[in-house]
Amino acid sequence: MTNAKDKKTPVELPKLPFAEDALAPVISAETIQYHYGKHHNAYVNVLKDLIKGTDLEGKTVEEIIVATEGKADKKKIFNNAAQIWNHNFYWESLAKGLKKTDKKVDLHGYAGTLDDLKAELAEAAKTQFGSGWAWLVLEKGKLAVVKTSNAEVPWTKDGVEPLFIVDVWEHAYYIDYRNDRGKYVKTLLDFVKWESVL
Ligand code: FE2
Repeated sequence: MTNAKDKKTPVELPKLPFAEDALAPVISAETIQYHYGKHHNAYVNVLKDLIKGTDLEGKTVEEIIVATEGKADKKKIFNNAAQIWNHNFYWESLAKGLKKTDKKVDLHGYAGTLDDLKAELAEAAKTQFGSGWAWLVLEKGKLAVVKTSNAEVPWTKDGVEPLFIVDVWEHAYYIDYRNDRGKYVKTLLDFVKWESVL
């Protein structure tokens, strides 16, 4: 697995790694059409416009994130780049979660069961105030649950490597679950084949 910081993601809309209806009814084709085709695509188009003719043009999404994180005058660029990264990783996470394997779940030293981990991730996703993301990461080799606001990413900190992400922006669930973020998260986490993710 390539570390997040070492990825070289171009500023493009990637191919969706599964069919639009592959996650239905957990996530409907209609949600994917809007989420991937409209929201994700818009982040790509906006970022392309923002970096056109600047020294960030031609850089990878990771390089743009690292160069703009925490800089007030680059907030818009950071937000769009990080949203591209997070959505790419969301589709990758869901694609992994679709696969059935004979592998055993590796809890990487987590102090609890897989159900405990799912409950902790669900709680983080549910309690993230406003828009954001819930993540499973390896932090110095140990499994941890983190949540981030808006477009923020955890992997620019040393020793933090993301394994799985849950989008908790309303656009991720409003068509299928209306305002019930908790139901979306629980349904999704129960659907994922964790032996493929961990
Ligand atoms: Fe999203």
